[in-house]
Amino acid sequence: MWPYPRIIAHRGGGTLAPENTIAGLRCGLEHGYRAAEFDVMLSADGVPVLMHDPAFGRTVPGIGNVSETSAALLATMDAGSWFGPKFAGEPVPSFAEVIAFCHENGIWMNAEIKPSPGYAAETGRAAAALLKQALAEQGGQRLMPLFSSFSPEALMAARDIAPEIPRGLLIGQVPDDWQARLEQVGATALHTNYKNLKEEQAKAVKDAGFGLFCYTVDDPAIARRLLDWGVDAFCTDRVDLIAADFATR
Ligand code: G3P
Ligand code: MG
Repeated sequence: MWPYPRIIAHRGGGTLAPENTIAGLRCGLEHGYRAAEFDVMLSADGVPVLMHDPAFGRTVPGIGNVSETSAALLATMDAGSWFGPKFAGEPVPSFAEVIAFCHENGIWMNAEIKPSPGYAAETGRAAAALLKQALAEQGGQRLMPLFSSFSPEALMAARDIAPEIPRGLLIGQVPDDWQARLEQVGATALHTNYKNLKEEQAKAVKDAGFGLFCYTVDDPAIARRLLDWGVDAFCTDRVDLIAADFATR
Protein backbone atom coordinates (compact mmCIF):
# COMPACT_ATOMS: atom_id res chain seq x y z
CA MET A 1 0.00 0.00 0.00
CA TRP A 2 2.80 2.44 0.93
CA PRO A 3 5.68 1.49 -1.37
CA TYR A 4 7.94 4.36 -0.29
CA PRO A 5 10.38 4.83 2.58
CA ARG A 6 8.67 5.43 5.90
CA ILE A 7 11.09 7.77 7.65
CA ILE A 8 12.11 10.81 5.63
CA ALA A 9 14.49 13.70 6.29
CA HIS A 10 12.57 17.01 6.30
CA ARG A 11 13.89 19.81 4.04
CA GLY A 12 16.86 17.65 3.06
CA GLY A 13 18.61 16.88 6.31
CA GLY A 14 16.29 18.26 8.97
CA THR A 15 17.58 20.94 11.32
CA LEU A 16 21.17 19.69 11.50
CA ALA A 17 22.18 21.42 8.28
CA PRO A 18 20.84 24.29 6.17
CA GLU A 19 17.46 23.35 4.76
CA ASN A 20 16.86 22.69 1.08
CA THR A 21 20.55 22.39 0.19
CA ILE A 22 22.87 19.65 -1.02
CA ALA A 23 24.65 19.97 2.34
CA GLY A 24 21.33 19.08 3.98
CA LEU A 25 20.95 16.00 1.81
CA ARG A 26 24.54 15.01 2.68
CA CYS A 27 23.71 15.38 6.35
CA GLY A 28 20.77 13.01 5.91
CA LEU A 29 23.04 10.55 4.14
CA GLU A 30 25.55 10.71 7.00
CA HIS A 31 22.76 9.71 9.35
CA GLY A 32 21.73 6.78 7.18
CA TYR A 33 18.80 8.46 5.46
CA ARG A 34 18.03 7.49 1.89
CA ALA A 35 14.79 9.50 1.71
CA ALA A 36 14.27 13.25 1.73
CA GLU A 37 11.49 15.78 1.55
CA PHE A 38 12.35 19.22 0.15
CA ASP A 39 10.57 22.28 -1.25
CA VAL A 40 10.53 23.27 -4.92
CA MET A 41 9.84 26.85 -6.07
CA LEU A 42 10.22 28.65 -9.41
CA SER A 43 12.80 31.28 -10.25
CA ALA A 44 11.84 34.35 -12.31
CA ASP A 45 12.91 32.54 -15.47
CA GLY A 46 10.86 29.45 -14.68
CA VAL A 47 13.59 27.19 -13.28
CA PRO A 48 12.61 24.98 -10.33
CA VAL A 49 14.96 25.50 -7.37
CA LEU A 50 14.95 24.36 -3.76
CA MET A 51 13.49 27.01 -1.48
CA HIS A 52 10.91 27.20 1.27
CA ASP A 53 10.21 30.93 1.66
CA PRO A 54 9.08 33.00 -1.34
CA ALA A 55 10.98 36.03 0.02
CA PHE A 56 14.64 36.35 0.96
CA GLY A 57 15.71 37.17 4.48
CA ARG A 58 15.60 33.98 6.47
CA THR A 59 17.75 31.36 4.69
CA VAL A 60 19.33 33.64 2.11
CA PRO A 61 20.36 37.17 3.02
CA GLY A 62 18.86 40.21 1.38
CA ILE A 63 15.56 41.59 0.25
CA GLY A 64 13.58 40.32 -2.70
CA ASN A 65 11.51 37.45 -3.99
CA VAL A 66 12.48 34.13 -5.51
CA SER A 67 9.85 34.65 -8.22
CA GLU A 68 11.62 37.87 -9.30
CA THR A 69 15.16 36.46 -9.29
CA SER A 70 16.81 34.52 -12.10
CA ALA A 71 18.07 31.00 -11.57
CA ALA A 72 21.59 32.14 -12.43
CA LEU A 73 21.50 34.73 -9.67
CA LEU A 74 19.88 32.32 -7.20
CA ALA A 75 22.73 29.87 -7.85
CA THR A 76 25.19 32.45 -6.56
CA MET A 77 23.26 33.16 -3.36
CA ASP A 78 24.41 31.92 0.03
CA ALA A 79 21.89 29.54 1.56
CA GLY A 80 24.27 28.28 4.24
CA SER A 81 25.67 31.17 6.30
CA TRP A 82 22.41 31.72 8.20
CA PHE A 83 22.88 28.24 9.62
CA GLY A 84 26.54 28.52 10.54
CA PRO A 85 29.97 29.51 9.24
CA LYS A 86 30.76 25.92 8.31
CA PHE A 87 28.10 26.17 5.60
CA ALA A 88 29.03 29.61 4.24
CA GLY A 89 28.63 29.74 0.48
CA GLU A 90 26.35 26.71 0.26
CA PRO A 91 24.33 27.55 -2.84
CA VAL A 92 20.64 27.46 -3.59
CA PRO A 93 20.47 24.24 -5.61
CA SER A 94 18.34 23.77 -8.67
CA PHE A 95 15.81 20.95 -8.63
CA ALA A 96 17.75 19.42 -11.53
CA GLU A 97 20.94 19.30 -9.44
CA VAL A 98 19.07 17.75 -6.56
CA ILE A 99 17.44 15.11 -8.77
CA ALA A 100 20.92 14.16 -10.02
CA PHE A 101 22.39 14.12 -6.51
CA CYS A 102 19.56 11.94 -5.23
CA HIS A 103 19.92 9.57 -8.17
CA GLU A 104 23.67 9.22 -7.60
CA ASN A 105 23.20 8.59 -3.90
CA GLY A 106 20.09 6.43 -3.93
CA ILE A 107 17.92 8.99 -2.15
CA TRP A 108 14.17 8.69 -2.64
CA MET A 109 12.52 12.08 -3.17
CA ASN A 110 9.35 13.63 -1.79
CA ALA A 111 9.38 16.86 -3.77
CA GLU A 112 6.99 19.32 -2.20
CA ILE A 113 5.81 21.79 -4.81
CA LYS A 114 5.91 25.10 -2.94
CA PRO A 115 4.72 27.81 -5.30
CA SER A 116 5.27 31.48 -4.72
CA PRO A 117 1.88 33.20 -4.45
CA GLY A 118 0.27 33.33 -7.90
CA TYR A 119 2.56 30.73 -9.47
CA ALA A 120 0.86 27.47 -8.52
CA ALA A 121 0.15 26.06 -11.96
CA GLU A 122 3.48 27.19 -13.46
CA THR A 123 5.41 25.64 -10.59
CA GLY A 124 3.52 22.36 -10.81
CA ARG A 125 4.03 22.16 -14.55
CA ALA A 126 7.74 23.04 -14.45
CA ALA A 127 8.55 20.66 -11.59
CA ALA A 128 6.68 17.82 -13.26
CA ALA A 129 8.24 18.41 -16.67
CA LEU A 130 11.73 18.48 -15.21
CA LEU A 131 11.29 15.37 -13.10
CA LYS A 132 9.58 13.48 -15.91
CA GLN A 133 12.47 14.26 -18.25
CA ALA A 134 15.10 13.33 -15.64
CA LEU A 135 13.43 10.01 -14.88
CA ALA A 136 13.29 9.20 -18.58
CA GLU A 137 17.00 9.98 -18.96
CA GLN A 138 17.93 7.92 -15.90
CA GLY A 139 16.06 4.89 -17.28
CA GLY A 140 15.71 1.58 -15.49
CA GLN A 141 13.62 0.37 -12.63
CA ARG A 142 13.16 2.63 -9.66
CA LEU A 143 10.86 3.59 -6.89
CA MET A 144 8.90 6.55 -8.20
CA PRO A 145 9.39 9.85 -6.37
CA LEU A 146 6.37 11.48 -4.81
CA PHE A 147 5.10 15.00 -5.37
CA SER A 148 3.21 16.75 -2.63
CA SER A 149 1.76 20.21 -2.21
CA PHE A 150 -0.59 22.32 -0.16
CA SER A 151 -1.75 23.69 -3.51
CA PRO A 152 -4.37 21.58 -5.32
CA GLU A 153 -3.78 23.77 -8.38
CA ALA A 154 -0.07 22.90 -8.42
CA LEU A 155 -0.82 19.20 -8.07
CA MET A 156 -3.39 19.27 -10.88
CA ALA A 157 -0.88 21.04 -13.11
CA ALA A 158 1.75 18.40 -12.25
CA ARG A 159 -0.77 15.69 -13.04
CA ASP A 160 -1.46 17.22 -16.46
CA ILE A 161 2.24 16.99 -17.34
CA ALA A 162 3.26 13.79 -15.56
CA PRO A 163 0.25 11.77 -14.39
CA GLU A 164 2.53 8.80 -13.73
CA ILE A 165 4.36 10.60 -10.90
CA PRO A 166 2.24 10.03 -7.78
CA ARG A 167 0.87 12.88 -5.70
CA GLY A 168 0.13 13.53 -2.03
CA LEU A 169 -2.11 16.39 -0.95
CA LEU A 170 -0.85 18.39 2.03
CA ILE A 171 -3.57 19.58 4.40
CA GLY A 172 -2.62 21.00 7.80
CA GLN A 173 -5.74 19.69 9.49
CA VAL A 174 -7.80 16.83 8.09
CA PRO A 175 -11.15 18.27 6.92
CA ASP A 176 -14.39 16.29 6.72
CA ASP A 177 -14.21 16.25 2.92
CA TRP A 178 -10.61 15.07 2.79
CA GLN A 179 -11.37 12.18 0.43
CA ALA A 180 -13.10 14.41 -2.14
CA ARG A 181 -10.10 16.77 -2.02
CA LEU A 182 -7.66 13.92 -2.63
CA GLU A 183 -9.76 12.57 -5.47
CA GLN A 184 -9.94 16.02 -7.09
CA VAL A 185 -6.17 16.03 -7.60
CA GLY A 186 -5.80 12.29 -8.08
CA ALA A 187 -3.72 11.99 -4.91
CA THR A 188 -2.90 8.58 -3.51
CA ALA A 189 -1.85 9.95 -0.13
CA LEU A 190 -2.84 12.52 2.47
CA HIS A 191 0.04 14.47 4.04
CA THR A 192 -0.87 16.19 7.27
CA ASN A 193 0.39 17.81 10.45
CA TYR A 194 0.57 15.09 13.09
CA LYS A 195 -0.31 17.66 15.77
CA ASN A 196 -3.87 17.91 14.46
CA LEU A 197 -4.35 14.25 13.55
CA LYS A 198 -6.75 12.07 15.52
CA GLU A 199 -6.56 8.31 15.66
CA GLU A 200 -9.98 7.85 14.08
CA GLN A 201 -8.98 10.11 11.17
CA ALA A 202 -5.86 8.03 10.59
CA LYS A 203 -7.98 4.91 10.57
CA ALA A 204 -10.48 6.42 8.13
CA VAL A 205 -7.75 7.42 5.69
CA LYS A 206 -6.18 3.98 5.85
CA ASP A 207 -9.52 2.16 5.63
CA ALA A 208 -10.29 4.13 2.45
CA GLY A 209 -7.06 2.85 0.89
CA PHE A 210 -4.98 6.04 0.89
CA GLY A 211 -1.44 6.58 2.07
CA LEU A 212 -0.97 8.69 5.20
CA PHE A 213 2.12 10.86 5.74
CA CYS A 214 2.76 13.12 8.72
CA TYR A 215 5.01 16.13 9.22
CA THR A 216 7.21 16.96 11.14
CA VAL A 217 7.83 14.37 13.83
CA ASP A 218 10.88 14.80 16.05
CA ASP A 219 9.93 12.79 19.14
CA PRO A 220 10.46 9.00 18.95
CA ALA A 221 7.54 8.35 21.33
CA ILE A 222 5.17 10.33 19.11
CA ALA A 223 6.61 8.62 16.05
CA ARG A 224 5.86 5.22 17.59
CA ARG A 225 2.30 6.25 18.41
CA LEU A 226 1.66 7.46 14.87
CA LEU A 227 2.99 4.26 13.36
CA ASP A 228 0.76 2.31 15.75
CA TRP A 229 -2.20 4.31 14.44
CA GLY A 230 -1.36 3.14 10.93
CA VAL A 231 0.47 6.24 9.68
CA ASP A 232 2.59 5.07 6.74
CA ALA A 233 5.41 7.57 6.85
CA PHE A 234 6.62 10.80 8.38
CA CYS A 235 9.33 13.34 7.87
CA THR A 236 11.58 14.50 10.67
CA ASP A 237 13.91 17.37 11.46
CA ARG A 238 15.86 15.15 13.87
CA VAL A 239 17.69 12.61 11.78
CA ASP A 240 20.01 12.19 14.77
CA LEU A 241 17.19 11.19 17.15
CA ILE A 242 15.09 9.02 14.86
CA ALA A 243 16.91 6.29 12.96
CA ALA A 244 16.17 5.88 9.27
CA ASP A 245 15.02 2.30 9.98
CA PHE A 246 12.90 3.33 12.99
CA ALA A 247 9.71 1.92 11.46
CA THR A 248 11.13 -1.60 11.27
CA ARG A 249 12.40 -1.71 14.86
O1 G3P B 1 5.96 18.31 3.27
C1 G3P B 1 5.80 18.39 4.64
C2 G3P B 1 6.30 19.69 5.21
O2 G3P B 1 7.50 20.04 4.62
C3 G3P B 1 5.31 20.79 5.04
O3 G3P B 1 5.69 21.96 5.71
O4 G3P B 1 6.49 24.26 5.71
O5 G3P B 1 8.09 22.43 6.14
O6 G3P B 1 7.18 22.77 3.86
P1 G3P B 1 6.92 22.89 5.33
MG1 MG C 1 8.11 21.07 2.85
